[in-house]
Amino acid sequence: MNSKTIQYGIGDNSYVAAGALQGLTKLVDSFYDFMETLPEASKIRNMHKSDLTESRTKLVYFLSGWLGGPRLYAEHFGRIIIPAAHKHLSIGFDERDAWIFCMQKAVALQPYEDAFKAYLIEQLKVPAERIRMASEAYQTNP
Ligand code: HEM
Repeated sequence: MNSKTIQYGIGDNSYVAAGALQGLTKLVDSFYDFMETLPEASKIRNMHKSDLTESRTKLVYFLSGWLGGPRLYAEHFGRIIIPAAHKHLSIGFDERDAWIFCMQKAVALQPYEDAFKAYLIEQLKVPAERIRMASEAYQTNP
């Protein structure tokens, strides 16, 4: 199949396009490196523990299954519902956008097809917005 006709989101196409586990590890390392250094992200960085090792592993494992690859998060840590897992955090529009901004910077550095870069960011905006909504609902009615 020609790369231009790959349908992301079918089977493990997205996982493969992201470079499988090795590619996802590079993406997530880059993502958290940006979170640690970009001033726009200092607030969300400070919501995390000082040591980001566990966060890096968990995000790689989650993205693996989410992109159609091995369900590593479930295998290692059990079931997760992403908005519920964040509802105790105060995540508004700025925090949501800062997270996506770090991801955009990280995705831009990866050797992905442009179409996959755009697809991945659009897909990630969906859980990011659900997290913001869950956080808002929780603040209103904990
Ligand atoms: C909307 C902006 C986001 C912010 C500010 C944010 C922030 C955080 C923080 C602070 C933690 C650590 C939680 C804790 O220690 O209690 C965390 C964990 C996590 N986040 Fe996010 N996150 C965001 C979006 C996302 C998205 C879009 C995904 C998935 C695509 C994601 C996946 C995860 C995963 C898998 C964990 C580990 C959960 C666990 O095992 O407890 N996050 N996030």
